[in-house]
Amino acid sequence: MSLLNQVMRLPYVHGLWMRFPVGDVSTKVHWGLYPYPYYAYGVYWSAFLAKRLAIPRITAIEFGVAGGRGLLALEKATMEIERALDVGIDVVGFDSGEGMPEPTDYRDLPHIWGRGFYQMDHAKLRARLSKARLVIGDVRETIAKEVRSGQLAPIGFVAFDLDYYSSTKAAFDVFEDDGPSHLPRVHCYFDDVAANDLGCMNKYVGELRAIHEFNAAHPTRKISIFEQLRLSRPKWEHWQKKMYVMHDFAHPQYTTQVIPLEPKHTQRPL
Ligand SMILES: C[S@@+](CC[C@H](N)C(=O)[O-])C[C@H]1O[C@@H](n2cnc3c(N)ncnc32)[C@H](O)[C@@H]1O
Repeated sequence: MSLLNQVMRLPYVHGLWMRFPVGDVSTKVHWGLYPYPYYAYGVYWSAFLAKRLAIPRITAIEFGVAGGRGLLALEKATMEIERALDVGIDVVGFDSGEGMPEPTDYRDLPHIWGRGFYQMDHAKLRARLSKARLVIGDVRETIAKEVRSGQLAPIGFVAFDLDYYSSTKAAFDVFEDDGPSHLPRVHCYFDDVAANDLGCMNKYVGELRAIHEFNAAHPTRKISIFEQLRLSRPKWEHWQKKMYVMHDFAHPQYTTQVIPLEPKHTQRPL
């Protein structure tokens, strides 16, 4: 085990490093030294993929902004990652601006969430944002206009935190256009696919139901959990079960070879 691995097992080291986040971006992403480490992970690897595909700019989206804690974390991480990888990253947050809408039926899990939960303080949030763009309105109306404006760089990372089945299903409209509008594999984070002691998440309701229906309706596009992500990470983190990838198997660049051609990837010593 490397010295760094041993040091990181000591109590308080992770917290101390978080307070004084020195080191290069890839090391910090690896050790999860970000307030939303799953956003940093998804954005880093989508930007890395874009670089390998010679795509100079991508879009990172958060669906469901509320107070803005996540969007601010996403913005900060992307600013470091775009500098490190030399790939431009636009950040867009979608939210109603007035909290959760009325749930449609049991699939929206009204036993957990209801109208008006998670209000946004517009003035406070806008004062703190530096580059992220807010798209205010119900996603059922805003997405199509935004995505089909022709102004978005290819979508590389999406965080889904709209809680409801109906809102998440509507948000999947971002994956409806042809290849160039998104990377061949789009890193996704789903906040509400796991646990919740009283909510009891399952595939018949909420985000999981929306994912199952998307997959059933799209023969060559699948949203699939990132299998065995734990193997790429130095330790278990609860969010590893919330990382998915939207695979567009018919994307013109899906089969483009992207692993760096370095001996560690291409040679098998005896
Ligand atoms: C749990 S909060 C998001 C929290 C945020 N991602 C964070 O990490 O701080 C869920 C948000 O989804 C938004 N939302 C849910 N359904 C929506 C819809 N149909 N259109 C727009 N926003 C919606 C609500 O306004 C609410 O602010």
